[in-house]
Amino acid sequence: AQEAGAVCIDNGSDFRLDPAIPLIVPEVNPEAATSESRFIASPNCSTIQLVMVLHPLHQAARIRRVVVSTYQSVSGWGVRAYEDLLNQIPQALKSLNKVSFDPTVFSSSVAFNCLPHVDKFTPDGYTKEEMKMVLETQKIIGDENINISPTAVRVPVLVGHGESINIETENRLSASQAQEVLSAAPGILVMDELNKDNPRHDPLERTYPVPLDIRKPEYQDLVLVGRIREDSTLKNGLNLWCVADNLRKGAALNVVQVGELLIKKGIIRP
Ligand SMILES: NC(=O)c1ccc[n+]([C@@H]2O[C@H](COP(=O)([O-])OP(=O)(O)OC[C@H]3O[C@@H](n4cnc5c(N)ncnc54)[C@H](OP(=O)(O)O)[C@@H]3O)[C@@H](O)[C@H]2O)c1
Repeated sequence: AQEAGAVCIDNGSDFRLDPAIPLIVPEVNPEAATSESRFIASPNCSTIQLVMVLHPLHQAARIRRVVVSTYQSVSGWGVRAYEDLLNQIPQALKSLNKVSFDPTVFSSSVAFNCLPHVDKFTPDGYTKEEMKMVLETQKIIGDENINISPTAVRVPVLVGHGESINIETENRLSASQAQEVLSAAPGILVMDELNKDNPRHDPLERTYPVPLDIRKPEYQDLVLVGRIREDSTLKNGLNLWCVADNLRKGAALNVVQVGELLIKKGIIRP
C-alpha cells in the first residue's frame, strides 16, 4: 500500500519500536506526525490508556517510576478469545472442575479466573505485553528515564481493560492537584467524587470507573480515571485506576484519530 502512495497506519506490534516509525497517540505526541510520515504505528491497547494518564502527570510533576498492574479483557487477544470465554461460562456455571477451553488461546480456562499471562514470555520472566508497556510508553512520552514495572493480567471481562497505576514523581502533586491535571487532559474523564446515599451506608464511598462503563456511548471513546490517592509510602507518590475500551481507544479509535491528525496537519487529504 505504501508503494502505491498510501500513508499507512498500522495497528499491529511489528514496527512500533522501530526508531524510524512514529508511534502516536494523538493526545500525547501529535508532533511525531510530520510531512515525512508515510507509515505510522498505533500502540498496544494497554500502553495507550497508560500514556494518556501518565503524559499530563509527567508534564505537571515529572514521573520517575511507575508500577502498573493490568486487568485486561479477553478481547485484547482477539475475537477467538472472546468466543472462547462465552463458551466457557455455561460450563463453569455447572462445574468449575470441568471447563474445556482452547489451549492455543490462553494457558487455562479464564471464566471465573485470572491469568498473570498476556502474550508470550521473554527470557527474563516478563511477558511481551509487559515489555510493550515499558518500551512503547518511553518512546511515546519521549523519556527513557521513566522506569516502569509492569504486571499484565488477563481477567474474565469481554471488553475493557483496567489498570492500577502507582506513580512516583519528582515534584509533589496532591491527589486534588492530580485530579485537576487529569480533568483538564484531552480524552480523559475523571470519575472520582463522593458517592453519597449509597445503599451500603458508606459515607466515604467514592465513584470510580468499571469496564462495563465503556458500553455507554458517552464513555466509550474516553479513558476513565478514578481512585486517585496519594501514596503515603512515597515522598511524592500517587495511586490511581483507569479503564478504557481496548477495541476503541486501545485500537481502532486511536488509528482513526491518527488519520484525523494527518488530515488536520495537511499530511493527507480526505
Ligand atoms: N484486540 C485489541 O485489543 C487490540 C489492541 C491493539 C491492537 N490490536 C491489533 O489489531 C490487530 C487485529 O487484532 P484483533 O484483536 O482485532 O484480532 P481478531 O479479533 O483476531 O481479528 C482479526 C481479523 O483479521 C481478519 N484477518 C486475519 N487474517 C486476514 C487476512 N489475511 N486477510 C484479511 N483479513 C484477515 C480476521 O478475519 P477472519 O475472522 O475472517 O479470519 C479477523 O476478522 C492485530 O494486529 C492486533 O495486534 C488489537
